[in-house]
Amino acid sequence: MPCVRQLLTEGLRFTAPVTFLVGENGSGKSTLVEALAEGFGLDSWGGSHDWRYATQRGKSALGERIRFDAAPRGRRMLGNRAARKGFFLRAETALDALDREGFAPDQVSHGEGFLAAFRGKFLQPGLYVMDEPEAALSFSSCLELLGHIDQLVKKGGQIVCATHSPLLTALPGADIIEIGPHGMRRVAWKELAVVDHWRRYLADPQTYLRHILA
Ligand SMILES: Nc1ncnc2c1ncn2[C@@H]1O[C@H](COP(=O)(O)OP(=O)(O)OP(=O)(O)O)[C@@H](O)[C@H]1O
Ligand SMILES: [Mg+2]
Repeated sequence: MPCVRQLLTEGLRFTAPVTFLVGENGSGKSTLVEALAEGFGLDSWGGSHDWRYATQRGKSALGERIRFDAAPRGRRMLGNRAARKGFFLRAETALDALDREGFAPDQVSHGEGFLAAFRGKFLQPGLYVMDEPEAALSFSSCLELLGHIDQLVKKGGQIVCATHSPLLTALPGADIIEIGPHGMRRVAWKELAVVDHWRRYLADPQTYLRHILA
């Protein structure tokens, strides 16, 4: 994949506390966020720093090759497992991971479990990696998530989030990296294809639907 090749040859510089990875299905977002989480020592199946490799799942080939050139606080976390803080919300296994951490018992809905995890886990500075958190969340819950992200940033946290959400990516000050056949490039929110599509769709759904519906 072009984004993986670029990561291996050029690396990726995180210049803001929050970075969103945006791109079409299959562009490589999950591959990148899983490798970052693994490289940092988070369970690749999802979960928090307390759950390293609880699943006995080995690192991926890409995860093995990730090296962080971190700021001083991050370096301390990389060198000392006990100091390491963070959370990986992996799209495919989020419910499983949240259940294991006590956030998704039978009594709460999918989205409520996610919100409980954000409220209960987004507390300490560390690396927080998320893969399409919006999949489970309503509009207002997505806004709540942005509030939790903002609080985490103010405490010194770093967030990397794969997403298709025009709502989440609008967070002021966040970096947006678009992933595609070109590899990875930084783009402004207004230049995102997904933002343009949503704007046009909401203004007039027919402009899209007439191409799809017989
Ligand atoms: N274990 C694997 N072995 C080989 N190819 C894989 C593997 N996992 C994913 N791929 C391929 O890598 C590509 C990128 O997958 P990835 O899951 O990273 O995409 P994505 O950007 O997260 O997509 P989506 O938006 O659908 O979640 C896909 O074409 C997929 O088929
Ligand atoms: Mg994905």
